[in-house]
Amino acid sequence: MGAQNGSATNGSSTAVATAEREIGPTGRPLPDFPEPRPLATHGNARVISMCNQKGGVGKTTTTINLGASLAEYGRKVLLVDFDPQGSLSVGLGLNPHEMDLTVYNLLMERDISFEEVVVPSGVPGMDLLPSNIDLSAAEVQLVHEVAREQTLQRVLGPALEKYDVILIDCQPSLGLLTVNALTASDGVIVPLECEYFALRGVALLKTTIDKVQERLNPKLEIDGVLGTMFDGRTLHSREVMERLVHAWGDKVFHTVIRRTIKFSDSTVAGEPITTYASTSTGADAYRQLAKEVLARRLPSESSPPPLRSSADDLRRDPE
Ligand SMILES: Nc1ncnc2c1ncn2[C@@H]1O[C@H](COP(=O)(O)OP(=O)(O)OP(=O)(O)O)[C@@H](O)[C@H]1O
Ligand SMILES: [Mg+2]
Repeated sequence: MGAQNGSATNGSSTAVATAEREIGPTGRPLPDFPEPRPLATHGNARVISMCNQKGGVGKTTTTINLGASLAEYGRKVLLVDFDPQGSLSVGLGLNPHEMDLTVYNLLMERDISFEEVVVPSGVPGMDLLPSNIDLSAAEVQLVHEVAREQTLQRVLGPALEKYDVILIDCQPSLGLLTVNALTASDGVIVPLECEYFALRGVALLKTTIDKVQERLNPKLEIDGVLGTMFDGRTLHSREVMERLVHAWGDKVFHTVIRRTIKFSDSTVAGEPITTYASTSTGADAYRQLAKEVLARRLPSESSPPPLRSSADDLRRDPE
């Protein structure tokens, strides 16, 4: 009887919750993303590339801030600056002229190890493989290498067991460096600026992802499409969002990143928005994206893992 009453109450409260669920900026009901649980162990990283050959769409901003948010939730994160512009490294406060070793050395010199190149990012739990303009030479030199598309995958091998998530910030092109990033990845996140020409070129990006998946990396999948620089006050932004959902369906993240000057300010400060303006809407948006990515692609991390030691059980939230 008690159980019956309980289930009746749960049933009706669920119905009310569904009916009242807020419509999100993508025009769909906004789900509640579960709070990520602490991890007892780290490793078996999921590798995710931020990819769009269009420039200035928020790839680097998303890499830094999604990474920092995942690190806040206790994930061990590695960021890979895979753009010769080095914006990710600069955005974390590094000076491009003062780097001893960069991703370039790791790719091209066989006696350089991952440990020699990786540096702390300034955010606890998040490391960085830095880059500068040297990396532009790799694009040309790699052409002559054996298994040239698998070079990044090979050098990231030792990092997989140390991190939970590896985020690769790609350059705005679909050249050999980006193909290397896609070959090394389990997933791709496509940031798209919410403006009229956002969908131009997306077909070519999709074809490139499909070709890499077919020929080089069968496990590659699109983890999600992220609307960035969204301005909810304009009909224009809302229309672009509608077209995105029409074209990509459930691949579009419920989380969208609104346009705010705080992102440029935090780049100048050389830190993520999650520390520069911790309580800002921009910081909250990336925390929500972190929860959505974990819920979508790493489900065992946002629900209780099947096998846990009793010590882990003690740490679990009472429910
Ligand atoms: N949501 C946002 N609101 C306002 N400005 C933003 C937002 N996201 C990024 N920016 C700014 O837009 C510019 C481009 O962003 P970002 O460098 O992340 O793009 P990108 O795709 O990495 O560019 P590139 O293709 O050149 O590597 C930067 O000055 C950044 O601070
Ligand atoms: Mg960039």
